[in-house]
Amino acid sequence: MPLVCLACVACGKYGAPAQPVETLKSVAPFPVGAAVNPYLLKTNSLYYAVVATEYNSVTTENVLKFNATEPQLNQFDFSGGDTVLSFAAKNHMRVHAHNLVWHQALPGWVLNFSGDSLAWENIFKTHIQSVVAHCKGKVSSWDVVNEAIRDDDGKLRNKDVNPGDGSIWRQHLGPDYIARAFQYAHEADPGALLFYNDYGQEWNGVKLDSMVAMVNRLKRRGIPIDGIGMQMHIGINTNQANMKIAMQRLASTGLLIHISELDVSVNPSGDTNIVYNDALQSRQADMYQLVAQTYISTVPKAQRYGITTWNVGDADSWIPHFYHRKDWPLPFDSLYRKKAAYEGYLRGLKN
Ligand code: G3I
Repeated sequence: MPLVCLACVACGKYGAPAQPVETLKSVAPFPVGAAVNPYLLKTNSLYYAVVATEYNSVTTENVLKFNATEPQLNQFDFSGGDTVLSFAAKNHMRVHAHNLVWHQALPGWVLNFSGDSLAWENIFKTHIQSVVAHCKGKVSSWDVVNEAIRDDDGKLRNKDVNPGDGSIWRQHLGPDYIARAFQYAHEADPGALLFYNDYGQEWNGVKLDSMVAMVNRLKRRGIPIDGIGMQMHIGINTNQANMKIAMQRLASTGLLIHISELDVSVNPSGDTNIVYNDALQSRQADMYQLVAQTYISTVPKAQRYGITTWNVGDADSWIPHFYHRKDWPLPFDSLYRKKAAYEGYLRGLKN
């Protein structure tokens, strides 16, 4: 018996040349990533295999946020972050680190901190520079400032209008805290690419205008900003024209554009009786395809930092937990099997 590929024998194609298996990263003309969770990397071999096989970029979902990295003043914890960084190094993947400055995911000690503006500046700068220095050489890029702009009027978050929507950083550090965050991060790792990351560009024109104006002002001043993250927590009904306009406007800044947190909700209205049937799965697949195609046709090649989905399988998604609704927003199901959404995404990436 000659040596043969057992897989070919098993699939009945003995004699036919083996077809290379396509993966997201093998077809995409730019990096494709997922937000990952170190606990799942350590405990779930299916999850590990899918991330290592399909993606060439990872984003740290929660483990490099302020509450994870500095749970007490000047006491740093990089245990979760280091698991992700080691995984990425072992599998030759890019790391996009998330995030340094946000009005959420703050530990109690920051929320209760009292001090003058110098003391606030000190905790702000020390946090940024300690975390960036720890990750230096192991990450390619950072979301430096996350979600600083309000949805309603496009102004900087400041005092709370609705509970929890203000920014403690803007309140204590003044409006130029954003520029200083980028400068501090750049001082700590001059080799890292630095991003401003936000959501809503595809549905909120006021916010989009404000974001484009803000990054252009930062650029004119020589502040070290390299890219914009367009989160794209979207749904099956997201408007294609607005998505394209948003990508065009963001790309007009000349910066790198990262679709940084993509997921496609199939139940944006929170229908409690929803059934995730073939029709919904097919509409979701079409939307994944459309996002990838629109990105390719709209964002110039040199500005494509890539597309990252926010998590891997449906059971890992933040959406059901946060909105208290049923949903299945990701390309893989809860057992990390490819869904129609995966096939749609693959088609779009191949375009
Ligand atoms: O780890 C604790 C666990 O010990 C505790 O028992 C449990 C009880 O609720 O909470 C766990 O922490 C949760 C954490 O996710 C890990 O699962 C937090 O409550 C929960 O608030 C946290 O949510 C994260 C959220 O950001 C806030 O940090 C989501 O996982 C994460 O997907 C989400 O990501 C954000 C991006 O950073 C920014 N853009 C929007 C995106 C979605 O909200």
